[in-house]
Amino acid sequence: MTNKSLAKNPSDLSVLVTGGAGFIGSHTCIELLDRGYSVVVVDDLSNSSEVALDRVRTITGTDEGPARDRLRFYEASILDRDTLERIFDENDVDVIIHFAGFKAVGESVAKPLEYYWNNIAGTLVLCEVAREHGVKNIVFSSSATVYGEPEFIPITEDCPKHDATNPYGQTKSMLEQILTDLYVGDGEWNVVLLRYFNPIGAHESGLIGEDPKGIPNNLLPYVAQVAVGKLPSVGVFGDDYPTPDGTGVRDYIHVVDLARGHVAALEWMGGRVGDGKARGLGSIAGEPAADGSRRGVGIFNLGTGKGSSVLDVIHAFEKACGHELAYEIKPRRAGDIAENYAACDKAREELGWVAEYDLERMCADSWRWQSGNPDGYASAK
Ligand SMILES: NC(=O)c1ccc[n+]([C@@H]2O[C@H](COP(=O)([O-])OP(=O)(O)OC[C@H]3O[C@@H](n4cnc5c(N)ncnc54)[C@H](O)[C@@H]3O)[C@@H](O)[C@H]2O)c1
Repeated sequence: MTNKSLAKNPSDLSVLVTGGAGFIGSHTCIELLDRGYSVVVVDDLSNSSEVALDRVRTITGTDEGPARDRLRFYEASILDRDTLERIFDENDVDVIIHFAGFKAVGESVAKPLEYYWNNIAGTLVLCEVAREHGVKNIVFSSSATVYGEPEFIPITEDCPKHDATNPYGQTKSMLEQILTDLYVGDGEWNVVLLRYFNPIGAHESGLIGEDPKGIPNNLLPYVAQVAVGKLPSVGVFGDDYPTPDGTGVRDYIHVVDLARGHVAALEWMGGRVGDGKARGLGSIAGEPAADGSRRGVGIFNLGTGKGSSVLDVIHAFEKACGHELAYEIKPRRAGDIAENYAACDKAREELGWVAEYDLERMCADSWRWQSGNPDGYASAK
């Protein structure tokens, strides 16, 4: 079956956003709606709240009248084939942005079956149902974790992949391979793998942001909860790395910049940006379709290209919240690397996308969200 054309105006395109109620998904819904796309969210709310989507509606003016129809929500798992069939029958979906999945590294070690089942089997069901409906356009949330301990820094897309040290990371690597194989087996597929670095921050409205359940796994939400008084101090794991201040260095990217990277990827898939040249760096460039839509596998890092240390983040957050934050140096954690940041030239040159916001802005936006919603979306009830 011929693939759906993406060489159209955004107002004529409908995007299925799996995991659209989550942290990155909800921010991406805003950017899509602001640019005129229609959005269909499928999310089982296993790690999110429908309140996030109510707020997406408020921010984008899709909360009343005919505009409401531009954002549709189905509370369902991507593992539920019957409901997915119905969603594709009821909506003329053109492209999928696939965020749905479990993402906690530590939990994935304890619950490998649940992680492989949800992330891998879920994606297989999704792709199968999509293919039956002639939709072979997909953007996948991958991660810098696929580089493992990187062979060089800054990390370009052709830096060799390494085995992940946990099932979560394995699912990302395996799904990259599965989606690549889909294209190899059927040249109609148009696949983009986006390798995120460390998304933080929140929408500038302060209405949506990251809402981790329980004790946060990632640095920024942890710091934010210390700032708001919910946790006593930040644990800094290792201060003897070969980095400027001894603490680990990562590439933090504002979630709104990251969300915009997805919109850029859709433009690229439709053949509306870029010079059409095939480039190496991990991608497989197929022959474009007659209407200019791309075919193949595009791989892009989404980061800022700038590393910040754990102490940089703590100090930037202190500036945002206006008071000092307690922290405690602890031993290094097994598996952590000293530094990791992206080369973002490929996304700039091909997608025409660059991250705009700096660490100060990321922390300011994150603080606005956290201080206005100390209990996350539960604060709304
Ligand atoms: N946040 C990060 O640091 C980061 C980094 C790299 C990659 N990623 C990837 O980006 C994606 C989005 O991450 P996020 O930070 O927004 O996470 P998130 O947990 O906030 O969002 C994921 C969403 O998927 C939903 N979901 C989970 N399993 C589902 C299923 N079977 N069916 C339907 N919905 C399901 C959850 O309810 C949640 O709303 C994930 O795939 C994650 O692995 C995240």
